[in-house]
Amino acid sequence: MTTILDGKGLASKITGELKEKVSTLSKKPKLAVILVGNNPASQIYVKNKSIKAQNIGFESLVINLPEESSEENILEHIYVLNEDDNVNAILVQLPLSPHINKQRILEAIDPIKDVDGFTSYNFGRLALGYKPYALPCTPKGIIRLLEEYNIPLEGKNVLIIGRSNIVGKPLFFMLQQKNATVTLAHSKTKDIKSQAKQADIIISAIGKPKYLSADFIKKDAIIIDVGISRTQDGISGDVDFEKVKYIASYITPVPGGVGPMTIAMLMENTFELYQYQRALIPE
Ligand code: GUN
Repeated sequence: MTTILDGKGLASKITGELKEKVSTLSKKPKLAVILVGNNPASQIYVKNKSIKAQNIGFESLVINLPEESSEENILEHIYVLNEDDNVNAILVQLPLSPHINKQRILEAIDPIKDVDGFTSYNFGRLALGYKPYALPCTPKGIIRLLEEYNIPLEGKNVLIIGRSNIVGKPLFFMLQQKNATVTLAHSKTKDIKSQAKQADIIISAIGKPKYLSADFIKKDAIIIDVGISRTQDGISGDVDFEKVKYIASYITPVPGGVGPMTIAMLMENTFELYQYQRALIPE
């Protein structure tokens, strides 16, 4: 029997609980999102984040900047948000266009408002095993989902496919802190298939539709699909779900798996940053 990991359901439970907590606050947490350019997928993601924030009772600010914005111009907006005591959380939607130095932009965010956990302060703390102000949303959501289903990580062989700063790299640190044995595979890894066959848990974050087929997977493996690609047949994950679902013990659907958990963790991080800034929880 295969269990479908219901990210949508868990996300809605988490955001429902946040909504209740926020309803008791006279001053509301505020999330600010900077979106540069007209990438259609990014526009949808930002809209969904803003709608979810408002549904919970947060204040939401979206700053839309033109594609041709200079680095200096984006930085100016970040400096203003850093100084604004009403803004608790700042997110710069990625990807940024190639003429922008991503590192310079992300590093300008005040670490206590860095809701993605992408600054070197927060990421460095994660890597060292210290507590950051915020953990990156997608990895945090994946671990929360595994925990919800009481899936043990200690001693498990976990294969992560994809080494991005957003998913693969932070997940590597988070999983090894949970005592998993973690392999971080990427585009230059030799024979991913044989690595995958050894894995108790496979987390794929490469954005190649139906890349992970049934012959990659050992019986009863746990499959987490972070990929979202638009194909002629609609939305597809990295995993060939229809075939893999008969072999896996647990599997996330796309959509309805990791995606909603990412947004829920963004909301939770916003709330936690608000609490740090108001000294409601100790650092
Ligand atoms: N683009 C895709 N995923 C993310 C994310 O988690 N944070 C940001 N800022 N941009 C993204």
